[in-house]
Amino acid sequence: MIFGKIYREVEVQDRRPLAGRRGRPHDHRVTSTLVQAWTSARQRLKAAGVDSPAIDSRLLLEAAADVSRTDLITDPYRTLTPDQAETLEAFVARRARREPVSHIVGRKGFWKIMVSVTSQVLTPRPETEVIVDHALRLFAETEAFSVLDLGVGSGAIVLAILAERPAARGLGVDVSEDALAVARENAANLDLNGRLALLRGDWTAGLDGERFDLVVSNPPYIATEVIAGLDPEVRDHEPRLALDGGPDGLDAYRRLAPEILRVLKPGGAFLVEIGYDQAAAVQSLFLDAGADRVEVIKDLANRDRVVAGSKKPLGESVATR
Ligand SMILES: C[S@@+](CC[C@H](N)C(=O)[O-])C[C@H]1O[C@@H](n2cnc3c(N)ncnc32)[C@H](O)[C@@H]1O
Repeated sequence: MIFGKIYREVEVQDRRPLAGRRGRPHDHRVTSTLVQAWTSARQRLKAAGVDSPAIDSRLLLEAAADVSRTDLITDPYRTLTPDQAETLEAFVARRARREPVSHIVGRKGFWKIMVSVTSQVLTPRPETEVIVDHALRLFAETEAFSVLDLGVGSGAIVLAILAERPAARGLGVDVSEDALAVARENAANLDLNGRLALLRGDWTAGLDGERFDLVVSNPPYIATEVIAGLDPEVRDHEPRLALDGGPDGLDAYRRLAPEILRVLKPGGAFLVEIGYDQAAAVQSLFLDAGADRVEVIKDLANRDRVVAGSKKPLGESVATR
């Protein structure tokens, strides 16, 4: 049976003549094939209560053994080196303690880019790609425009936009110096550091004269008392500063709505991520601040995910409701 072959443990053997081994200890560590390692990791993660053991074990194996998804399919009997096996063992142990995969492998794919991730920044989420998708619809490929990302974190949102709009320039603001260091590294790795400035600040507090064509933000929006009941991956490993939206989760939007309208150019657009049940409250805050054409955009799971709108063009009165 084919699986009998796949699951056979393989000992790495030193085939050099004895004379050639003098002075170097024989490596007795036992290792395994890729598919065997994947199966064993998957079983351990499942037993630890991890939500997606198959995907997570594959991602950990790819990183530990420096192989691609294609290698796993086309070369499943390739043997891990003892060092790779040891690395995988450490990765699986960390994941079993519910550390996120992104923190273990140090990176996360977002939209069409790969960003470095540490425990100092929120791991970018697929639902946040709704902001990028919508921003790219607003500005044509060759258009020169300015984008401000408030609470830039790893830089995922603004970098994904800049990567696809070569004439655009960005500014990322975060209150966390550690987060800014990660964003800086990501901008350099993507060769976008020439078009992204980064600034430490409390939302728009340091931006006096600047005005932007587009403002994006994924602020902290989880109600404080909800945080204790979140999955350990989020509760214990994501920065509190990236999660905690105050007693009702809306603290950041109360500040951001008027501040975003202040720093937008007339006619400029904004896109802010929201929790699935916050659409009505956040829309109200932006309408009260004088925003125009306020609408809610859903994510792929059909949940309310982004509040979008614009600042009235010059010449139109800024009416409040
Ligand atoms: C939910 S994370 C979003 C990170 C990133 N934009 C993303 O979508 O993956 C929110 C970010 O807002 C930052 N933040 C929290 N309070 C802030 C404030 N008063 N001023 C600026 N940034 C703040 C946090 O440090 C964190 O990086």
